[in-house]
Amino acid sequence: MQIIKIILKMNKLIAPSLLSADFLHLSRDIDMVNKSQADWFHCDIMDGVFVPNISYGIPLVQAIKKEALKPLDVHLMIVEPDRYFEKFRDAGADIITFHYEASTHIHRSVQMLKSLGVKAGVVLNPHTSVTLLEDILGDLDLVLLMSVNPGFGGQKFIERTYAKIEKLRQMIENQGLKTLIEVDGGVNTENAPKLFAAGADVLVAGNAVFKSEDPIKTIELMKS
Ligand code: DX5
Ligand code: ZN
Repeated sequence: MQIIKIILKMNKLIAPSLLSADFLHLSRDIDMVNKSQADWFHCDIMDGVFVPNISYGIPLVQAIKKEALKPLDVHLMIVEPDRYFEKFRDAGADIITFHYEASTHIHRSVQMLKSLGVKAGVVLNPHTSVTLLEDILGDLDLVLLMSVNPGFGGQKFIERTYAKIEKLRQMIENQGLKTLIEVDGGVNTENAPKLFAAGADVLVAGNAVFKSEDPIKTIELMKS
């Protein structure tokens, strides 16, 4: 138990979501993340089909990569994600996550990501049970739990997520794995400590970081 707690402490990672950045001053916002204690850049890719919104695509990820000094965590909210794995890897993705709900052959997709040399993760919408990952967990570098319905920044955190984190943490421990748990949507300085305590390793934060008066301080608070 002690060892588990130490590991959890080491894994308090923050991934600011650039969806909430100021696109007219993207360079400035990337620079802020570079200088902060944040760990990854979270890039939200929306196709207007899987989710009711369109965000940005490959050219912007390429541009972000040129300035980002930390890994790019690319969250694909798109149908047929396999078709785009290689393109996003080439654009600079270090981690690629795709939705369980948008995929038919998850095992094949995960192997594809591994052969491309990127970290592989599966994303679950709020309604999708973590138990569905039981037989694929050992192949995953991370699981991203959506704590809002995907598609937009600035939504309200869904409280049920805590129970999902705890259950998934138990599954990971039972199988003796190192799979990371990432949480995305409505994360702020108030719920961040509770999410880490429940067993999350990585927290994505959009509005809470970029709309705050002092983003660097907010990131620091989230990690502390
Ligand atoms: C939602 C995206 C999130 C979003 C989070 O579909 O996946 O990454 O940018 O934004 P906040 O933290 O504002 O809820
Ligand atoms: Zn996201």
